Amino acid sequence: HGTSQVNEKGHLEIGGVDMVDLADEYGTPLFVYDVALIRERAHQFQEAFRQANVPYQVAYASKAFSSIAMFELANHLGLSLDVVSGGELYTAIEAEFPMERVHFHGNNKSIEELEMAVEAKIGCVVVDNFYELKELSRICKLRKAHMQILLRITPGVEAHTHDYISTGQEDSKFGFDLTSGQVHEAVKRSKDDESLTLLGLHSHIGSQIFETSGFVMAVEKMFDLLEDLKDQYDFVPSVMNVGGGFGIRYVDGDTPLQPGSYVKEMAAIVKEKAENAGMAIPEIWIEPGRSLVGDAGTTLYSIGSQKQIPNVRHYLAVDGGMSDNLRPALYQAEYEGVLANRANEVATNTFSIAGKCCESGDMLIWDLPLPKANHEDILAVFCTGAYGYSMANNYNRIPRPAVVFVENGEAVEVIERESYPDLVRNDLSLPNHMLK
Ligand code: LLP
Repeated sequence: HGTSQVNEKGHLEIGGVDMVDLADEYGTPLFVYDVALIRERAHQFQEAFRQANVPYQVAYASKAFSSIAMFELANHLGLSLDVVSGGELYTAIEAEFPMERVHFHGNNKSIEELEMAVEAKIGCVVVDNFYELKELSRICKLRKAHMQILLRITPGVEAHTHDYISTGQEDSKFGFDLTSGQVHEAVKRSKDDESLTLLGLHSHIGSQIFETSGFVMAVEKMFDLLEDLKDQYDFVPSVMNVGGGFGIRYVDGDTPLQPGSYVKEMAAIVKEKAENAGMAIPEIWIEPGRSLVGDAGTTLYSIGSQKQIPNVRHYLAVDGGMSDNLRPALYQAEYEGVLANRANEVATNTFSIAGKCCESGDMLIWDLPLPKANHEDILAVFCTGAYGYSMANNYNRIPRPAVVFVENGEAVEVIERESYPDLVRNDLSLPNHMLK
């Protein structure tokens, strides 16, 4: 997929760059991003909106992979940016991302984070709860500032995905509850507040979703609500944010839709509902993370030790694992991979790919068909671009990998590999008297 192919040496090539050479140059584990594929994904979403002829914003959900270079690229591609923490906002500021296109999410933004958002004059805060509504208003008044907001509602839609990444069901920590009148109260308070401008509503039903039905249901629920809100508070939204969560293909059995298909269906239902309600079509905002960068990312590992249990299993261990990809351990997520240095050889064996962390659960792939592999081989694991590096950690004091962007035969390092000194940078020694 993307620009991946096998070159004349039998090596995996992405963006015209030989992955074996890249592993040599930058070491492993290494995250590699196919920039052309990120461009294409962004374009697919934007083009579908253009064809549907509706006003829109596509915001990159930066939690999927945030770095200065990634934010620069997102800006260049005309994407807005969804941040969920002071750290992501700080990265956006450092990347000189236009602040008016930044949206701030989260169910427990701190006072400092809200102050930072107001100070930076970001485009909008997606307000999650009453505490935040009150604090944001107080901060704005204190600074004689103003903020545009969306209210995040819990649409009460169950997305068919892993429990940990399903967020739309009623019993969720996110957003204002629909069933108990909380949304009405929040709209009233926002409308009455001079320092806040209520742009509209937001809902996000979950992640890695393969169907449009959940999105359509969420839109329908929002429109049901709008009738009430118009009658009671004369509120007509100029923005309707339907969140992210569009699925991607990790393994053969995954059957996501094309990015454009989600958009097409959603635009159609918003259009229809708005026309029926006699209101102007609100700007439709989406927030894809995974579907913009997920399949553009590949992780390269060096194979090290092996363990064969006769008639049971053949383990191959790689030089990373749950420290650079937590998803298999956390969600039983599945991946596919190939030997980057022998990409044209047929698979003759099945191997189970173990990480190097001290946990039995640190298994990256079970039963992967590969040619007979050994410690000279480089394993490429596909579709690691979303929630891989961003959830990487220093468990077992393993340094985080480097990240390289590739395109048109060129490789550009965008995040350096962490060093051992980096790992102890914030460590402090005990005072002498405690060691006496
Ligand atoms: N908008 C909101 C409000 C979200 O909470 C999320 C993801 C997104 C957008 C982007 O969703 P995406 O398009 O990337 O599916 N760590 C998990 C995924 C957690 C998603 C959290 N929220 C994973 O690795 O599968």
